[in-house]
Amino acid sequence: MCGIMGYIGGQEPTKIILDGLAKHEYRGYDSAGIAVINHGKIEEIRTVGRVKNLAERVAEAGLRGEFGIGHTRWATHGGVTENNAHPHVSNDNRVVVVHNGIIENAREIRDELEDKGVCFHSETDTESAVQYLGYVYDGNPKEAIVKLTGRIRGAFALVIMFADKKEIWVCRKGSPLVVGHAGNAGFCASDATALLEFTHDVWFMDDDEMARITPAGCEFFDFAGRPHAKETMHLDWNAAMTNRGSYPHFMLKEIHEQPDVMTHTLLGRVASGKIDLSSELPWTAEDVKKFRKIHFVACGTSHYATMTAAQIWETFGSFENRCEVASEYRYRNIPADESTLCIFVSQSGETADTLHAARLAKSKGAECLVITNVRGSTIHREVGNALITPAGPEIGVAATKTFTAQITVLVLLGMYIAKLKGELLPETETRLASALMDIPAKLAEILKQEHDIEHIAREFADARGFFFLGRTLSYPPALEGALKLKEISYMHAEAYPAGEMKHGPIALLDKELPVVALIPKNDMWEKTISNIEESMARKSPVIAIAAEGDQAILQYTRSVIYTPVTEPELYPFLQVIPLQLFAYYVARQRGCDIDMPRNLAKSVTVE
Ligand code: G6P
Repeated sequence: MCGIMGYIGGQEPTKIILDGLAKHEYRGYDSAGIAVINHGKIEEIRTVGRVKNLAERVAEAGLRGEFGIGHTRWATHGGVTENNAHPHVSNDNRVVVVHNGIIENAREIRDELEDKGVCFHSETDTESAVQYLGYVYDGNPKEAIVKLTGRIRGAFALVIMFADKKEIWVCRKGSPLVVGHAGNAGFCASDATALLEFTHDVWFMDDDEMARITPAGCEFFDFAGRPHAKETMHLDWNAAMTNRGSYPHFMLKEIHEQPDVMTHTLLGRVASGKIDLSSELPWTAEDVKKFRKIHFVACGTSHYATMTAAQIWETFGSFENRCEVASEYRYRNIPADESTLCIFVSQSGETADTLHAARLAKSKGAECLVITNVRGSTIHREVGNALITPAGPEIGVAATKTFTAQITVLVLLGMYIAKLKGELLPETETRLASALMDIPAKLAEILKQEHDIEHIAREFADARGFFFLGRTLSYPPALEGALKLKEISYMHAEAYPAGEMKHGPIALLDKELPVVALIPKNDMWEKTISNIEESMARKSPVIAIAAEGDQAILQYTRSVIYTPVTEPELYPFLQVIPLQLFAYYVARQRGCDIDMPRNLAKSVTVE
């Protein structure tokens, strides 16, 4: 959803800004731009396409300045054109702005300014902000921004430079923005990972907050212009985590990180066959007994992580669970009250729908908990109660390692709650805790089959589409497998609970529509075999994700990816990596842009 980078300090700014934008590219990549202040004048370059195009244009033009801001765009208002690319400059060339978010009353402001004779040059909502600033600016940036924030509605992270001031201003409502300072340099960015090489102590901007960044430091104000003190947050990620290393894509690197990610996620939470989250969660046995209903709320892959975990929870506890996508939850009248535990799952912690759903649940008095990969993210700060997935920065747009970290945390959470409620049998706790500790090594085993999976993926890369089938615990991983394929290969893929196929979707099956069947060794094996037979009777080729030792499956298909054996409840942990690799290699065979798939953004901070 657009990435922003700003720098003010002793060094020439263009390289720092371009490098920062490259780190933000997963947030949007349809156009990019940069503006610097050079001897009191705004100079800018914008271009359609990737940050590397912008870097070439900057080099050709020899753009240089004292400090500056940049932007990589994911279009919302206005098509993908150079003219709509940010930064936008006011007509009088005194103010320049980059923006992430949507200004909802942009049309109204534009009409009002046009009536006063101000000309507009783009189709963007952002231009209303910069022309407004140009109109009201009288040499006092803070006052102009106070006026602006009082005038615009919607979601915004705005970064502003005034040609006659050696400072960068930022203001935020609803869209993420982080500010940092190191030595004699100040920075701002949409994503803290872009600041890691400069500092690990950052300020996450809150809603209704603005800041003035200079080489000497950062000052914070509310939207009325009143100053306040603000604590920094320490980031425990390091800059090396944001590099691709020797992998061709971040997605592949992140798939391979999963054994380590899972180990880290279990660390300190499972020991000697026992689950303990007491150092992270404030609840007593009395508290959890109040949770009569559990609502899981999330989007995309995080939603499928909640569906996966919710089914696993059912195997060891009596939970009234419901899993909802945040964009629906926030607009429906789903009963939630003091007896409801609402669990929000968000890799980024910035997804607008999940954040709004959390605000709604809080307002209804529900107990709220967030599971996020980004400590200090907006949802973390607003919800408070949190379990962090220590997966490290995830850069590939298609989520992979964070899914594994999320289901790990969620399963531990369910076991912990069931234990506090007195429902978790001690033998179940020991059995699952020890099986969970064994999963990282099993994930590493699956990764060794990468070339076999690549081979199968190549064979099927020209299919018309795919069905992903699974029953009970294997259905949510099937959904995630289909999502991965859609996201990065642009192939149509649908996931179904296998038993439901005969109620309609089976009509689509033929020899050009393969079925990926998730068939672990559990009590649904025979029923899933029947569904495989139904598919084969319609000539659909079948790719099976089966458990090691399952020779019988070879009677049905030779395209089998075996996972190691685990406890019946935990197969989802093992099924997802083959599906991620399958999607990855199908997309690669089809020549798709795997880390930056078309039309998608890693973090969706607008509705
Ligand atoms: C976007 C991403 C998905 C992600 C979803 C939820 O759609 O492309 O990969 O699963 O947002 O993101 P979150 O950060 O809230 O988990």
